Amino acid sequence: MLSQDDIRKELANRRANHALSRDLYCDPGVFQTDLEQIWYKEWLFAVPSCELPKAGAYATMQVGAYPVVMVRGTDGRIRAFHNVCRHRGQRLCSKPNGATTRLVCPYHQWTYDLDGKLIWARDMGESFDPAAYGLKKVHCVDLGGVVYICLADVPPPIADLARTAAPYLAPSGLDAAKIAFSSTIIEQGNWKLVFENNRECYHCGGSHPSLCRTFSDNPKIGAMDGPHSASPEILAHWERCEAAGLPSRFVHQAAYQWRLARIPLLNNAESYTMTTKAAVQRRMGQMPFNDAGSLLMYHYPNTWNHFLGDHALTFRILPISPTQTEVTTNWLVHKDAVEGVDYDLKTLTEVWMATNDEDRVVVEENQKGILSPAYEPGPYSPLQEEGVIQFVDWYCATLSARLGAAAAMAAE
Ligand code: FES
Ligand SMILES: [Fe+2]
Repeated sequence: MLSQDDIRKELANRRANHALSRDLYCDPGVFQTDLEQIWYKEWLFAVPSCELPKAGAYATMQVGAYPVVMVRGTDGRIRAFHNVCRHRGQRLCSKPNGATTRLVCPYHQWTYDLDGKLIWARDMGESFDPAAYGLKKVHCVDLGGVVYICLADVPPPIADLARTAAPYLAPSGLDAAKIAFSSTIIEQGNWKLVFENNRECYHCGGSHPSLCRTFSDNPKIGAMDGPHSASPEILAHWERCEAAGLPSRFVHQAAYQWRLARIPLLNNAESYTMTTKAAVQRRMGQMPFNDAGSLLMYHYPNTWNHFLGDHALTFRILPISPTQTEVTTNWLVHKDAVEGVDYDLKTLTEVWMATNDEDRVVVEENQKGILSPAYEPGPYSPLQEEGVIQFVDWYCATLSARLGAAAAMAAE
């Protein structure tokens, strides 16, 4: 198991524009460091806000060692708490989601209101002060329909993303959506392999026959690299969409931690379906035309999303172990769309159910090969895998800086 010093050396010695070393993908010490330096410090996508439609609706997630619960309060605001009772530490909510009026601990029934205040605890004696035992807060923001949390005491700035994302997301109608279907799978691969696979479409032609009916595997059309390489097709798409009031151009954080861009689908397709036509008759938001394509938004380390005219897809990854990652996909539709009338689930979900499974196989086989002592990091394609290079560079720079800072503090 690598020490933090070993990891710093490994990062310093890595070959630019090449895949990472076996240890950086698979070592338990690296996994723990990823949790501590990335996952416990960065903003993470938690849920689409429509998963918590009313006061008392809650959802849980596990980030490394931290159980977290997100709950909508009576004031309409979504808050996040450590999902840990302040009495003897029972996990408060054990289900993935639900609805309640109060959060009641199953062990001794200490009871918290929806904003985390302890409002009932039996037989705790005269001197007990319930005000000192409210649930511990986790930072939480709703970026216009997508809820992010951060476990750090002092979270990194998110105002830039919030300001940029708001006008891009607003026309997608996330405030009037519901979850039509949700899928959670466990991929037998490191979280970085899952994210790397998402950041390129070099593999799409060989792996995704259904997706490739509508999604271009050309990185210049799929906004896989940078704004500098925009193709005439995507430039024309941005001009047409922006003239109709849809923010669309490629925007990104300086180190590419997040990016938004609206891309055209192939052959003027309306949605990710086998027929290329919309899957949902009751449209979301205010798309000015049916072939406005897909608004793509990713944020390292744990989410990518597609917002279309008829439905939206959110993806959330969470690390389980050095070689296991949870992937949750939500299909969002207009809140008034009726299953069986406005859409059927098979048409809505079949392309991405297949695509997710195809990606799972790719990631798992990649992991198996990397576990071999014969594995040697190979070069990324400069034409096809610029998005992967950006991700790996961000990861290595972030981890190096934080480990460097930690080492400097230890030496003081
Ligand atoms: S541990 Fe929650 S009430 Fe006792
Ligand atoms: Fe894929």
